[in-house]
Amino acid sequence: MPLIPVPAHAHTWAALTRDTSYVFGVETVIGAESGEDTRIVQWYWGPRLPTGALGQVVEHAPGWIVTGFLDPDDATEMLPVDGGRRWGVPSLQAVYEGEVRSVELGFDDAVLGENEVEVVLRDHAYGLRVGLHVRVFDDCDVIERWVSVTNESAVPLRLRRLDSGSWVIPEQAGFRYTGAAGGWGRETRLQSGELPAGETTFGSRTGTTSHKANPWIMLGDATEDAGDVWTVALAWSGSWRLTTQRRPEGDVAVSAGFGHEGLTWPLGPGASLSTPSALGLRTSGGYGAASRAWHDYARKHVLPRPGEERPVLYNSWEATGFDVTEAGQLDLARRAADLGVELFVVDDGWFGARTDDTRGLGDWWPNPERFPYGLRPLFQGVRDLGLLAGLWVEPEMVNPDSDLYRKNPDWVLHYPERRRDTMRNQLVLNYARDDVREWALGWLDQLVREYGLDYLKWDMNRSFSQAGWAEGGDLLWIEHTRGVYAIMDELRGRHPGLRIESCSGGGGRADFGMLRRTDQVWTSDNTDARDRQVIQRGFSYLYPAGAMSCWVTDSPNPITHREVPLRYRFHVAMAGTLGVGGDLTSWSAAELDEARQLIADYKAVRPVIQHGALHRLAGRPGESASAVQYTLGDQVVVLAYNPFALDKQPPRRLRLAGLDPSAVYEGPGGSWYGATLMRHGLTLPTWFHSGADYRSEMVVLRRV
Ligand code: DGJ
Repeated sequence: MPLIPVPAHAHTWAALTRDTSYVFGVETVIGAESGEDTRIVQWYWGPRLPTGALGQVVEHAPGWIVTGFLDPDDATEMLPVDGGRRWGVPSLQAVYEGEVRSVELGFDDAVLGENEVEVVLRDHAYGLRVGLHVRVFDDCDVIERWVSVTNESAVPLRLRRLDSGSWVIPEQAGFRYTGAAGGWGRETRLQSGELPAGETTFGSRTGTTSHKANPWIMLGDATEDAGDVWTVALAWSGSWRLTTQRRPEGDVAVSAGFGHEGLTWPLGPGASLSTPSALGLRTSGGYGAASRAWHDYARKHVLPRPGEERPVLYNSWEATGFDVTEAGQLDLARRAADLGVELFVVDDGWFGARTDDTRGLGDWWPNPERFPYGLRPLFQGVRDLGLLAGLWVEPEMVNPDSDLYRKNPDWVLHYPERRRDTMRNQLVLNYARDDVREWALGWLDQLVREYGLDYLKWDMNRSFSQAGWAEGGDLLWIEHTRGVYAIMDELRGRHPGLRIESCSGGGGRADFGMLRRTDQVWTSDNTDARDRQVIQRGFSYLYPAGAMSCWVTDSPNPITHREVPLRYRFHVAMAGTLGVGGDLTSWSAAELDEARQLIADYKAVRPVIQHGALHRLAGRPGESASAVQYTLGDQVVVLAYNPFALDKQPPRRLRLAGLDPSAVYEGPGGSWYGATLMRHGLTLPTWFHSGADYRSEMVVLRRV
């Protein structure tokens, strides 16, 4: 579906998605007391309009009288600049020669493609070209926007903010917001509330997406199942900020972009910079429908291999820590294969002098004492068991106690006259540097080639500090992330069979930028099933279940010490891409039998869970009785949980969603019309009867 000029309105366009229209264009404002000012205004973002109605939403207000303290309508701009009569949140702040700051853009041109437009603006006095890009798809409702700037002058300038753009949330949206925030072990916990008047900024200064917040917001007065939702997300894996601005006059705008306050990006003569995409999506049908629309977009336009079924993996980290040996790993691999696991991932501790976290990071060759014959015998053994082979790497990091650092102390982020603060005894390698990227690509490529690796777990275990880069200054905050992207893209290009998991001390780097070049994300280091339910719920607001790595680990949980039955742990991990991460040498024969059966159960419904439409049916996961449903074709899978023995609070019957009311669905012990299942509900033992803590079940239904 296209991007079209709006009839009878010069320089005005409509982006037509499957169900929405997004109308925007150039407005020239003539102040009473001064000259012309050009603004690119968002006129409309809502349900699909008939073509004839597109022009009716354009309400030019030429000749605004700007008097006293009355602000012009700057919250409706798609790229408000720091300049002229504007006092809201700027999406673009530039400092020109002579410390001139007031940006004045004029409309120059529009380059219109079938699904994309670039609106070209220029600040003629200072030679700044700005391209405002809008792209739509014919199979979903997401609108992608980004900005590119070029310094066409002969003198350098500096950028203090360059967001991907500002989005106007129509007034009728209601002003509740929902977002995801947390910390290590507590990622993607939902927070919501009345959007405060004034400016509210969510973001990260860590150099990564971070555990503290995730780059998206939903706005609207909606429930899980009903109401209109406007949502904005940023496809970026470095520092970011997303600022909402609610003005007393009633407008809400959301400006999102890379970087954080205080960074200044130099733009030399002839240099260009473009932003990552900010994504806008508007849906009816509540937060559930918004999430399904994001998942749909992720599958159609983001994930590199969306149609694939993710294998059940085993990861050795919680079982062995740094104590990695060939015999120990092979013993675990044998036990994992016996359970039906399909991919074996050797975690940290296999390389250099890395027998704990104080040394060896950066020295990416097999530890000569632990693996005197290299990793070949280990991976041969893994393959002989019928398993795919995966390996943990942390390519952006170095321990000061390593050969790499002794040889290349300048490769890390640093300022010559400042301390180099370590975290987890490590420093950050500067991926903005060509030599660092070349080095990384060299050993990663060789590793994948030599061992025929099917899978890399790409970890990243600290935030930036003393982030100096003599050649490029603060551009480092952008170029590091782009450098990581480039290596991942190149590796995937060279090894089409390779799959990558994004990890950053758990879920510190989960976003649409990362998902474009990875297949799944390690959701959190916290594998406690109850905590995980809360984390996974927040993750599910934007990202699909197939991208959510979940492991079943030991009980009591190593982090929280909570004891949770194996079945409940499995059912929680089965809500995404299932993995096992416990110490299998300590599991009883009965536990191993139960695990084997549950893995088989998962494999039987895996396509439905990983690729189906998700409905968060009821309850507060991890805090009360709750359930999630996945539907794909004729198949329906429900995972239901009840963590508390005496929780017999209503509803005691579970109402399903998204079924065909007149079709009949067959399930355990009966068959029901879709209408019955959706309006009356299923009676589940897990919900209906009281019993022990932590009851859970999986119900599979099939349309007949
Ligand atoms: C942090 C990750 O989140 C863990 O799963 C594990 O890979 C460790 N790093 C290894 O150091």
